[in-house]
Amino acid sequence: MPIVLPHDASADGHLVDGVIGYLTLTTGLAFVAVLLFLLIAIVFHRERAGRTRAHHTHGNRPRDRALTFAVALVMFIAIDLTLAARAAGELSGRFWRYPDADPNALRVEVTARQWSLTFRTAGPDGRFGTSDDVVTLNELNVPVGRPIYFKLRSRDVVHGFYLPNFRTKIDAIPGSTTRLWVQAQEPGRFEIACAQHCGVSHYKMRGLLVARPEAEYRDWLARAETDSRLRTEAADPATREASGAWDWETGR
Ligand code: CUA
Repeated sequence: MPIVLPHDASADGHLVDGVIGYLTLTTGLAFVAVLLFLLIAIVFHRERAGRTRAHHTHGNRPRDRALTFAVALVMFIAIDLTLAARAAGELSGRFWRYPDADPNALRVEVTARQWSLTFRTAGPDGRFGTSDDVVTLNELNVPVGRPIYFKLRSRDVVHGFYLPNFRTKIDAIPGSTTRLWVQAQEPGRFEIACAQHCGVSHYKMRGLLVARPEAEYRDWLARAETDSRLRTEAADPATREASGAWDWETGR
C-alpha cells in the first residue's frame, strides 16, 4: 500500500501493511459482490411485461435465513477470523517479543510530559540515572539494524508515542511503565507524534527519530557522551535527581 501509507522504514512494518492490505482487499471484494447482487436483483425482479408489480420477498423463509447465515459465516471466517489469527501470530511472534535478552538492543527510557518527550540512554556503564546517561529532548538518535527497546512513562496525562514510519504506537500512562520495540532498516529522519489529545499544545508535541548507520551512530554517541558529561558536571545534583531516570528492570 505504498500510495496511501507513510514510508515504511522498519523491520516489521510490512506485517501491519499486509494486514491492512488484506482487510482492504477482502472487504472491497465483499462490497463489490453485494453491489452486484443488489443490481442483479433490481434488474431481474423489476416490474416488466407480463408482471404487474416488481417481485419482492421479505426473506423470512427458513431457506432464505439459512442462506443468509451461511454467507455471513463464510465472510466472518474468511475475513475476521483469518485476520485475527494472522494478527495474533504476528503480535506474539514479533511485536510482543521484547528484546529483553538481547545485549545488542538499544534501551531507551522515554519520559512524556505536556508537551515534550525526553529520551534517555544508559551510556557506557549500561545503567540509567548515572552521569554518563545521554539525554536528549524531542530528538532520538538510533543505529540502523539493531532493536530499539523503549520503556515509557508520563509525568502528567496520557500521551501517545506514535511512529508512523514504523507502523506502531503505544501510550505513555501516568503511574505505569509501558514498552515498545522497533528496528530501523534504513537511515533517515522519521516523525514521532503524540497520538493522544493531551492538552492545548498537543498538536505541537512531536519528536524526531534519527536513524544512522552504525558507524555514524557511534560517532554521534561519542560526542553526545562528552557533552552529557560536561552538562552533568555543571548541573545541580537536585536537578539531576529530578531528571526522570528509573531503573530499567524494576521500573522504579
Ligand atoms: Cu501528548 Cu498529545
